[in-house]
Amino acid sequence: MKQTLVLLACACLALASCSRKEEGSRVDRLLAEMTLEEKIGQLNQYTGRWEMTGPAPENDYAQTGLEMIKSGQVGSLLNVTGAEATRNAQQLAVENSRLGIPLIFGYDVIHGFRTIFPIPLGETASWEPELARKNARIAALEATAAGVHWTFAPMVDIGRDARWGRVMEGSGEDPFLGARFAAARIKGFQGEDLADAGTIAACAKHYAAYGFAEAGRDYNTVEVDERTLFNVVLPPFKACVDAGVATFMNSFNEVNGIPATANSFLVRDLLKGKWAFDGFVVSDWNSVGELIPHGVAADRKEAARLAITAGSDMDMEGNCYIAHLKELVEEGTVDESLIDDAVRRVLEVKEKLGLFDDPYRYGSAELEEMLFLSDEHVAAARDAARRSIVLLKNEGGLLPLDAGGQRIALIGELAADKDSPLGNWRAQAVPGSAVSVLEGMQARVNTPSMLLYERGPQYLLARPSFLVNVEINTTDRNGMAEAVAAARRADVAVVVMGENGFQSGEGRSVTDLKPRGLQLELLEQVLEVNRNVVVVLMNGRPLDISSFIDRVPSVLVTWQGGSESGNAIADVLFGEYNPSGKLPVSWPRSAGQLPMYYNHKNTGRPTGSPGQVTWSSYTDQTREPLFPFGYGLSYTEFEYSGLTLDKNSMGIEDSIRLTVTLTNTGDRFGEEVVQLYVRDLVGTVTRPVKELKGFRKVGLEPGASAEVEFTLRAEDLHYYGADNRWGVEPGEFRVWVGPSSAGGAEASFVIE
Ligand code: NOJ
Repeated sequence: MKQTLVLLACACLALASCSRKEEGSRVDRLLAEMTLEEKIGQLNQYTGRWEMTGPAPENDYAQTGLEMIKSGQVGSLLNVTGAEATRNAQQLAVENSRLGIPLIFGYDVIHGFRTIFPIPLGETASWEPELARKNARIAALEATAAGVHWTFAPMVDIGRDARWGRVMEGSGEDPFLGARFAAARIKGFQGEDLADAGTIAACAKHYAAYGFAEAGRDYNTVEVDERTLFNVVLPPFKACVDAGVATFMNSFNEVNGIPATANSFLVRDLLKGKWAFDGFVVSDWNSVGELIPHGVAADRKEAARLAITAGSDMDMEGNCYIAHLKELVEEGTVDESLIDDAVRRVLEVKEKLGLFDDPYRYGSAELEEMLFLSDEHVAAARDAARRSIVLLKNEGGLLPLDAGGQRIALIGELAADKDSPLGNWRAQAVPGSAVSVLEGMQARVNTPSMLLYERGPQYLLARPSFLVNVEINTTDRNGMAEAVAAARRADVAVVVMGENGFQSGEGRSVTDLKPRGLQLELLEQVLEVNRNVVVVLMNGRPLDISSFIDRVPSVLVTWQGGSESGNAIADVLFGEYNPSGKLPVSWPRSAGQLPMYYNHKNTGRPTGSPGQVTWSSYTDQTREPLFPFGYGLSYTEFEYSGLTLDKNSMGIEDSIRLTVTLTNTGDRFGEEVVQLYVRDLVGTVTRPVKELKGFRKVGLEPGASAEVEFTLRAEDLHYYGADNRWGVEPGEFRVWVGPSSAGGAEASFVIE
């Protein structure tokens, strides 16, 4: 029996590899048949709708676009979604172009498609990569129903600077945490095999160092030294390659003088060379054309030459490849083998997606109907949103609230906002479709009259959009008095404040992190009449809350929580769910401390005595964050004890086992993220003061204990050193296991 099974398995494997060979040869045969124009067409990505992520496209989809598809001049469309629209466009390509090569439809499916999950930064605050995998899987199911083959996600840029609006799209400041979430999201989008139903190709973006834009200003210059590049910026990208990501996207920025889209070192040498990435690389929106204002190309022809030579395979909305590659090949400036390599990569992804077998296998009106906002998806969105919430403060146990006995004043325009929780990059969410905090709380309180909602002064002047900046009211105080009166009458005031959903995201850089408009003034007035205040922050980035953090007993960070945000927030406010999120970023006291990250270097002057100035600090503020990376409270308490290492030294190929006992010393069930940090005390180059090397989320009943175990391999301590190589140097290391990047049980070991 066993033998028969083995034989069968071998036969299946042989069949699979044989069909893979055939698949490969299909791409070969196709390539051999293609004219140069047809090849270049495959490298052209064209928007079907102006998604407003850059300058307006030169062509109009309805007119020239359709003709270009028919003549094989378009390999991919972005921003065309819906079973019907994608089928129609696909039909044009398959039935009219000479070789009938199917289009690949790309779209920004960043945190859900119709059902919206928390923004990626928020989702990362769950410290549950498996949650991110499941959410990406749901997003992929909905997106495939709408005919989408390919998402421009995950965004794996390290974000150390909250001024940069795109921190909302990433996993925060840590490469280890970022790499884990990157891999999980790719698994969720791509499944085990892209040929399986309900999977979409993922895209690691923005390659590279986009998050290091100077002064947090979007698209700005990036100067990053080689060691930071390799030790901090690149690990999440490498994790994407290891997870089998199908595509990469160039970033807009320059890296040390060379724009990423024209950066041969990054793309051709490292990504496609050393890392052997076999998928394709798409430019960002017109990032090929932007080589001109960057000042490395005189015109679009030169821009096309630089980008294709560097290894950027597909031109998103730049119109540079379609206009100039033919001429460049014909005059001998660009070798046709470069074009062939790029086209092969694009065709192979199409092949893997099964588009040559059935170009219409994605897109189904019945599935759209069945899957969009299905009960199962909505329940997942609610669970994800509550798992993302971080409790920053809870003095005197003000939270959880009592749904039966307390009179609650709910205050702030954001409390009734059904749009902001969808956040930026909300794909096909229906505007205004999120559950608001007001609705979530109304559904929860036993006596409706015990919940008093007052908007307070108007926050926004007009409903913002993806392209247009938010306009905020700073003068009209109408509504202030009513809000304060409600707070006075209540046992507790819940003030919802922070950012509108379009205040963070692309192009949303800021110089000041304070909640804007009249929000702080409103809070101050509420505090004057009622000290029992819970601040519910709705935010796409850490905000400057220094002015009130010492006077407000309870603060929750809820990010932009997606479709079910209000229900999830009510779950936490009323204790239905005990918060378990931890910050994926250091929370600064003010924008002046930025960039800020826990894994910084020590400097030669790390400490000083009070009043003394000649050490690495500020004279007007402490250098410490308001809340450290990894921080987050629970309604219960956890205690760490008995950190033990199975040995105190290891060789460079060895590993150490660490165990710690975690006890729930409070009176309710709770989950804790146990975190492992390491410091390499002395190196040939300076090393970070701490680096995350492991984490586990553990659920415990009151009074229960668990032994939490980590295996730390010497290999996990490798870094890109003075000799420009990966490795670990012998010496002493300190290790901490605890509830955040600050503190924890401490031990040390030696690498021999
Ligand atoms: C520009 C953004 O930088 C990128 O992240 C996005 O995927 C593309 N536009 C397409 O919308």
